[in-house]
Amino acid sequence: MLNVKEIRKDFPMLQNKTQQGHNLVYLDNAATTFKPNQVIEACSSYYLEENANSHRGDYDLAFKVDQKVDEVREKVAKFINCEKHEVVFTSGTSMSLNMIAFGYGLKFLKEGDEILLSEAEHASNVLPWFKVAELTKATIKYIPLTKEGRLTIENFKKTISKNTKVVSLALVTNVLGFNVDIKEISKIAHEFGAIVVCDGAQSVPHMKTDVNDLDCDFLSFSAHKMCGPTGIGILYGKFDLLKIMDPLMSGGGDNARFDMCGNVAFLAPPAKFEAGTLNLEGIYGLGAAIDYLNNIGLDNIHAYEKELRNYAINKLKSLDNVIIYNEQADAGIITINVKNVFPQDEASYLNSKGICVRSGEHCAKLLKDLLKTIGTVRISFYFYNTFEEIDLLYEALKNGGDFLDAYFS
Ligand code: ALA
Repeated sequence: MLNVKEIRKDFPMLQNKTQQGHNLVYLDNAATTFKPNQVIEACSSYYLEENANSHRGDYDLAFKVDQKVDEVREKVAKFINCEKHEVVFTSGTSMSLNMIAFGYGLKFLKEGDEILLSEAEHASNVLPWFKVAELTKATIKYIPLTKEGRLTIENFKKTISKNTKVVSLALVTNVLGFNVDIKEISKIAHEFGAIVVCDGAQSVPHMKTDVNDLDCDFLSFSAHKMCGPTGIGILYGKFDLLKIMDPLMSGGGDNARFDMCGNVAFLAPPAKFEAGTLNLEGIYGLGAAIDYLNNIGLDNIHAYEKELRNYAINKLKSLDNVIIYNEQADAGIITINVKNVFPQDEASYLNSKGICVRSGEHCAKLLKDLLKTIGTVRISFYFYNTFEEIDLLYEALKNGGDFLDAYFS
């Protein structure tokens, strides 16, 4: 059991009031999460105590930073169960996915090859592949989803072919919150000779991730969705794949030598992919975020979020004016609309009560046809949310029969 009351004391943002004087009810955790003091202090400690560049200085201070970068890399590796040299620091999930698409896809795909995606994917797992498909003349194919938006192994088997070279999917989709069985997908994809790329942005912060068990080839995720700082994320890749793919970006720190004829000897991964100065305060913060989550326990986080979700679903189901799009979802994401209310208006109305949610298409712009709506309101939980906050949401939504009711209530 989580002691949420105690946990909440760690988060300065949870002590703040809104402009209208309400307690802040933050239900937009799929967009980004709040940071505990431990993470904020770790970021500050870089500036206050250990401000030097990494992998460049020959003095104690710089050595301390090198040690920290190494220590956090090790921590990330343990967190997702891989080897330290398979962990690349990036700016976040979008960058990681672009690095895979352009570093691997552009180098190895050719005309006639197929890239499998789904309509539930976030823009960051679609647009880089569009560009790579255009440049290589590979084809994008979509694995059909069920009516409710779930990806099934049956449909995956029907879509994969001997031409499939890349399967790129979210472990948990960001609008509907459905788990995707990546372990089974990897098994089948590998039989066909395809690689599996995972977008872990919405899963890694909420449940244990074991890349060894999933046997995916790449995984990307962001620190800011797991209590860490913005601007830092991870690209995990199987070492043999990291070795053969190209860096999307090159520059200082990624090479052993280069000459005037244009010959370059890149360093081994992960350094090969880490040109330029790393986001060092971000790395300090990410290390603290992993410690923080490990202390609470990912299994406890997952179980508590499920309880929050079930509680919220039961309450929202009793409201005739609320349409729920993902009643059966696996993650702490609930996507709704209030009948006859434009999603952005609903979000603005909830904001007037101190409740933060996201509205619109949530960057998953291929989902419109399946959901048959131009947009939705997304409620997303993290372990510091409470049942009382769900009660407040419920009370607010009760008064939303139409836009005017909502607005003037
Ligand atoms: N990717 C984030 C979301 O789904 C921003 O909201």
